[in-house]
Amino acid sequence: MLVVIVGGFFGDEGKGKVASYLGLVDRPDIAIRCGAVNAGHTVVYRGRIWKLRTLSSAFLYERARLLIPPGALTRLDVLFKEIDETNARGRVVVDYRTGIISEEHVNMERRSQHLSGVIGSTLQGVGAAMADRVLRRLKLAEDYPVLKDMLGDAPNIVNEALDKGQKVLVEGTQGTFLSLYHGTYPYVTSRDTTASAFISEIGVGPKRVDEVIVVFKSYITRVGKGPLPGEIPVDEAEKKGMVERASVTGRLRRVAPFSVDLARRAIVLNSATQAALTKIDILFPEARGVKEWNKLPKEARKWIEELEDKLGIPVTLVSTGEDSEHMIDRRRDYGLL
Ligand code: IMP
Ligand code: MG
Repeated sequence: MLVVIVGGFFGDEGKGKVASYLGLVDRPDIAIRCGAVNAGHTVVYRGRIWKLRTLSSAFLYERARLLIPPGALTRLDVLFKEIDETNARGRVVVDYRTGIISEEHVNMERRSQHLSGVIGSTLQGVGAAMADRVLRRLKLAEDYPVLKDMLGDAPNIVNEALDKGQKVLVEGTQGTFLSLYHGTYPYVTSRDTTASAFISEIGVGPKRVDEVIVVFKSYITRVGKGPLPGEIPVDEAEKKGMVERASVTGRLRRVAPFSVDLARRAIVLNSATQAALTKIDILFPEARGVKEWNKLPKEARKWIEELEDKLGIPVTLVSTGEDSEHMIDRRRDYGLL
């Protein structure tokens, strides 16, 4: 069983929250975090907070093997820090060919007026490392002796696990409209961020995917430059409780209301089979912490049902608070579990 989680807007939809919940309830044998360290996924569980940039947010399930695939890019300091913070020693596998970002890549990006001024990059060295990978001079995980005990062949591990009927959870990063190909170019990241890209990063073919869960927040946020349809002023966003800060850079996120047009396009670009909707408690405060569909305020249920009609796919997961357990799971109602 292969499930892919993908962001439907501009990142920060709550993929970390969704992945951590699915880790707890679905108990995947393997949890793979794709993408690179420019993306921060936040997990809040029973009073503790983790901000993860390279390990899967499904680490809460202690028996999951945590994979970093060959198409991902990581940093050694970030990796070791997260292994410590999540207590994951002994269950992390880094593919031999995973790209390693160095200090030099970060410095290169910091010197780029184009990246900082025009694009609003997170300046984490990801684009510079991607460029080196394309130029075939990037150092890979197998070039670093310190990773020796963690190295493995992710495509083999994952495909063999699927052959045995095991569960694999793929956690994509950023969002569909930050994709290098499908986003608002040039105001995008340095990689494709759609579901197809994530499975390609791992080395798994498209026919092996069972479910694609696209994650939408109940409103849209965007950090950095680039178009944001329907953008509202900061003070208005503040009143609605929609002001957020970016987890990697600390920058204020720009805000817009939910867009059905963007959501529909994201569903098409990812061939999404289900949607997860996060932060419904910001639109409907009485929804906070609710775990059963029937206990949601009536207006919230109506809003979600109307949305489902417009989107054409079921909203199977509804997040009602920051804790991993604040979730309404409707997959059984839809015969998807
Ligand atoms: P870069 O990928 O760090 O160069 O940033 C390019 C653009 O993508 C900027 O607008 C960033 O703010 C945005 N971006 C990159 N990673 C993330 C993310 O994880 N969440 C939200 N925005 C991101
Ligand atoms: Mg984020």
